[in-house]
Order: sequence, then structure tokens, then C-alpha cells
Amino acid sequence: MTLPRSLPPIPIIEPFRIRTVEPLTMTTREERSMLLIEAHWNLFGIHASRVLVDLLTDSGTGAMSTEQWAAIMRADESYAGGESFYRFERAVQDVTGMPEVIPTHQGRAAESILCRVLVKPGERVLGNTHFDTTRAHIEAAGAEAVDLPDPATEDTRTETPFKGNIDLVALERELKKGNAPLVIMTATNNALGGHAVAPENLQVVRELTTKYGALLFLDAARFAENAALVRRDSPRWGDKTPAEIARFMFDLCDGCLMSGKKDALVNMGGFLALREPELARQLRELGVLQEGFPTYGGLSGRDLEAMAQGLREVLQQDYLDYRLATVRYLADGLESVGFPVVRPAGGHAVFIDARASLPHIPPSQFPAHALACALYVEGGIRTVEIGTLMFGEAAHADLVRLALPRRVYTQSHIDYVIAIAARVAERKDRLRGLKIVQEPERLRHFSARLAPIDS
Ligand code: F0G
Repeated sequence: MTLPRSLPPIPIIEPFRIRTVEPLTMTTREERSMLLIEAHWNLFGIHASRVLVDLLTDSGTGAMSTEQWAAIMRADESYAGGESFYRFERAVQDVTGMPEVIPTHQGRAAESILCRVLVKPGERVLGNTHFDTTRAHIEAAGAEAVDLPDPATEDTRTETPFKGNIDLVALERELKKGNAPLVIMTATNNALGGHAVAPENLQVVRELTTKYGALLFLDAARFAENAALVRRDSPRWGDKTPAEIARFMFDLCDGCLMSGKKDALVNMGGFLALREPELARQLRELGVLQEGFPTYGGLSGRDLEAMAQGLREVLQQDYLDYRLATVRYLADGLESVGFPVVRPAGGHAVFIDARASLPHIPPSQFPAHALACALYVEGGIRTVEIGTLMFGEAAHADLVRLALPRRVYTQSHIDYVIAIAARVAERKDRLRGLKIVQEPERLRHFSARLAPIDS
């Protein structure tokens, strides 16, 4: 009789191999401590060359594929009617099923055009949770941005799937009040933990918006990750492809806005897509002023080609399996070394609950930022605070976001991050809070100067 051998678990395998490499620079702990002081304790002020693993954002930081680079060489840079635009338009139509396609230079440009055309002063724009630039554009149009997240988000520790859903009872109550011409559903829900929106939730949102005469737009920045989470977590959708699930969700909407810097796998780009030709005409008219002629929209032909190809690649099952596995692996690893993270792990980032990790630092002293600084000093890892530094007293939580650039880091980088986090965890009771010594009027987290509080 042969005894069962214990086999090593099969690791996550990156479904690509590497052909161009970008060297990373090692720095010492002493150098990093000095750099942080020079940057006034603001990680946005650190030169990227002094960062070893950069988890600041998953936006525009991904690696392109051989096919994307090949497409770039084919680009047509004509001012009007370039072939690249038509290839891009077809790719967007294939994925979204929406006939009207308007390129923009990035997601927030799409938000700006949409809000300036659709939103009037005094109105309210409802959503599951608006991303901060979306909120800023709604407010710039004189309207109010109303977040109606699912009550399940309140407990960050439960594995309940689809915490990206909107609270349907609250949505109907708000729609009934009137003066709400637009609902924006953000999938996945970046601001609250990268949770997925369930297709069934969006179906009811569609019914309600039709009943109350509002338009429904999808912020589709991470539409493919959302589809992958739906496929993984909902038995009803397990036999559908990510493309089919995404299409089902797009079919429920009047239009969508997209930051291509996420799930179009490019470093720059975005778009609006919609069904209604008259609204599209108005959006294009404003788009010419802000972004340029409608067949390039603030982008070069090269960018349009890369986005067209990226939109196809992002829906590949192997890629999405690897992506979700990496995020979950990092979440489990951080938790195993003593950092509670927001559950369930989403599609693009892991969020450490810093209020729970560092109870000795009150929110007014930015516990998540203190932890982010410690991760930098300990191992050159750059993350971002999403909490009181970013949102002021309105912050519901103090989180450190570790966002994973797409197709950039390997599992050993992730293992390194977990090992560094373990070392920070050992001395987390000794971390000190920070105070702001200088801040700008708006979006203070980008440029505020801070200093540690002497204990
Ligand atoms: N919508 C969502 C859900 C986003 O996460 C972002 C950007 C945007 C819109 C704006 O798109 O950057 O192309 O103008 N999120 C980045 C982040 C910046 O780090 O989460 P953009």
C-alpha cells in the first residue's frame, strides 16, 4: 500500500510570461525614512523610482500585452475618421452592445461631459457609491451626489457577496421624492471595498428607474472584474462567460462611462457609450470643446487601438481567475499576519481596516495613513489612505488600500508585501498618529504636509 504523499498546493500562475522587464531599485530603510521626511509624510510626494512595490493605484499602471503593442504600430493618426477609431468603436459596441461610442481621455472626462449635459443645479444623482471624481463633477454641476450603499457594507468582516449593490428600498424612496434624473451604478464599487454589483440588483434598479423616469448609467471602470466576481460567487451565473455576464448588465443600462485605465488594460483612455442618438449628439458637441473631435476624443490613434485590444483581453477567463486569486491571496496573507481586511476580497485591491488594527490612534490622527507610512519605511511599499485624510470627518472608515496594477507584479512580489506587513504588524502598537501641518483647499490628501505626533 502506498501512503498518500502530501503534495504542495498549486500556486497562482500568472497567465503570461515576461518579455520586457522594468528594473526596480532597492533602497534601505534609512533612505526611505529620510525620503518620507523630505516628502512631508505624504506618499504622493515620493518619486516612483524610490518605491519598490507600488500599490498606490490600479489605474493606468497595468502592463500591455504583445497584441496591444502590435495594435499600436497599426494605429491611424488621422485627425478625423481614423481607422483606429472605427476599430475602437466596434470593440466597445461588441462588449457593451451600445451603438453610440464617444472616446474621452480618461474616466473623469466622461463624467464631466455627462454631468454637464444631463445634470442641472438642485437635482440629485443617486448611486451605490459615487467615486470621488464622479461626486466632484456632480457637485460642480450644482447637484447633490447621493450614496445609497447596501446596508451589508456596514459589517466589513462578513463574506456576504455583492456588497456593491445599491440599497433598493432607499433607492425607491429617493426616486419617489423626484428631482433625480440620473442613477449611476459603479461596478465594482471602488469606494467601499471593490465589491461586486449583482445582476439581479441592477435588474431592479432598471425597473425602478423606468418607473420613475430616470436614466441609468453604469460606471464600468471595473466591469470585467465585476463579471468575474458574479461568476465566482453566484451559482446562477457560474456557467456564463464573463463577456455574457457583462453584456447582461450593460443591456440593462441606458449608457455607461468608463475609465479605460482599469479594465481596458491601458495607461490612458476612457469613453462614454449609450443608446440614445440625440443625447449622444449633445454629449459629442460638448466633447469637441473639452476633448477634441469625436473620432479621437483626447486620445491618439495608438491609445484607441490599445483600448480596443485591451477590452477583448480583459474578459479572458484565465486572466480574470488569476486576478481574483491574487487579490484573495493578498487579503488572506495580510489577515494571517494580523491585519483585518475588508471582506469579501474584491477584484482590484485589498483594504486594511486601520481603525481596527491601530485602535490606539484616533481617526483624527489618521491611523490608515500612519500604517501606509510604516509599510513604506519598512519595505518600500506604497499604498494609499482612504479615510479621514482623504474625506475629512465625513469618512466612515479608515482604510489602507493596496491596489494591484494589472499584469505587473508576480506572486513573489505579493509574498514580499505580506512579509513586510508581518514585520509592521509586530510593532503596530508603537506606530504614532500624524497631524496636518499644511493643506490645500481641496483634495488635500494629494498634497497635504504632515508630521508625526510626538508621544
Ligand atoms: N470611476 C471609478 C470607479 C474609479 O475608480 C475612477 C478612478 C474613476 C471613475 C475616474 O477615472 O482616473 O480615468 O479619470 N479611480 C482611480 C483609483 C484614480 O485610484 O481608484 P479616471
